[in-house]
Amino acid sequence: MAAIHFDSNGLENFIADNELDEIKDQVRFAHQTLVNKTGAGADFTDWFHWASSQDQASLAPIHQAADAIKKNSKVLVVIGIGGSYLGSRMAIDFLKSPWHNELVQGDEVKVYFAGNAMSPMALDELDRVIGDQDFSVNVISKSGTTTEPAVAFRFFKQRLVAKYGEEGAKKRIVATTDAKKGALKNEATAEGYQTLVIPDGIGGRFSVLSAVGLLPMAVAGVNIENVLAGAAAAEKTYSSDDVHDNPALAYAAYRRILYDKGYTTEILANWEPSLQYLSEWWKQLMGESEGKNQKGIYPSSANYSTDLHSLGQYIQEGRRDLFETVVRIDHSKHDLPIPKTGNNEDGLLYLEGKSLEEVNKTAATGVVLAHVDGGVPNLAVFLDRQDEAGLGELIYFFELAVGVSGYLFNINPFNQPGVEAYKTAMFALLDKPGYEEQSQVYHDRLK
Ligand code: PA5
Repeated sequence: MAAIHFDSNGLENFIADNELDEIKDQVRFAHQTLVNKTGAGADFTDWFHWASSQDQASLAPIHQAADAIKKNSKVLVVIGIGGSYLGSRMAIDFLKSPWHNELVQGDEVKVYFAGNAMSPMALDELDRVIGDQDFSVNVISKSGTTTEPAVAFRFFKQRLVAKYGEEGAKKRIVATTDAKKGALKNEATAEGYQTLVIPDGIGGRFSVLSAVGLLPMAVAGVNIENVLAGAAAAEKTYSSDDVHDNPALAYAAYRRILYDKGYTTEILANWEPSLQYLSEWWKQLMGESEGKNQKGIYPSSANYSTDLHSLGQYIQEGRRDLFETVVRIDHSKHDLPIPKTGNNEDGLLYLEGKSLEEVNKTAATGVVLAHVDGGVPNLAVFLDRQDEAGLGELIYFFELAVGVSGYLFNINPFNQPGVEAYKTAMFALLDKPGYEEQSQVYHDRLK
């Protein structure tokens, strides 16, 4: 049974009944384009059947690497940027806790993330957090040439060598990268690091269910087989090409209808702090896939309740180009009763003894009503439970939706040409060899 229940009731005031039918043939065509691999970027759609094609043998290298790290380390430093870290960070927060590192017990391993910023302060602080604890490094880069993780890797390699010596350091590095090419692959081969492969046909932001996401998850104690099983089941659940039978296609369709009405920013909202990184992962997935040729929905996020006291005012009364997709959990992993005191000094007598989960849900329902009244169309993705299979399904749901949505926008959802522009400017200003011509131009612009 599907863990997701997709709810479009919050569109009532914004979309007429016939509008979904009007777009359904376009959606069917976009879906077939994806399924039949006839569209732009089709070489990068292997994520489509990835989870259902994994087995014990293909997961064995990941488990071996995870077991070795668990045996000799208290800390794993995951070095990567964008799709090379957001998925595993999302999964660990979602399935373990955003406080995972503070809550570890016994042999459990803390997982920290580096290489997603150029900040010296961030590196120095992580260095101090690790202190004298035994640690290993999982450096992840599909291209093997991304500057931010490469810089961070230099720092942590140096630290490993200082602590464990040249040979000891090599045994504590796992490089997750392309099977054949890239600087990281070449270095791993030359130095003899253990490597895990990022499949050719899966781009960074779709790679969470490959070794990219699965090794850090396994080290954190996540049951990766169950995550894959959830995604594999989703492949069947979301296989119809009819918007009325396939909620992922309905989601893609409604987004497109809303966009055409001028709702060009989507806010992915949640009511659990452990879902904050789900939004970060989703923002990359949506933004890098759709934001091309001056088209696409701008992906934004809100974490409730906190953002009701910051973004809430804008969402309620600001520019009316927003719509909201709320991810809601039906059964929270924990519940607490609101403590009974018998007095009303804090004005909470009416709530005492009530389940905090129920209060959270009521707040979520109230906010939907207020935002809809304020002119913000609302979609909801209800997830039965915050567990491995549910996460696998959620990942597949959003990946499928954005693939279809990209083809509805008539763009290639699987490339990211725009990411190169900042690199060119940065390399030119850093005088990287090969950028001499641009260096001159950029330096002149700053004069
Ligand atoms: O989706 C993508 O492919 C990108 O966003 C990458 O994840 C990101 O740029 C990191 O690239 P790499 O893994 O090659 O270092």
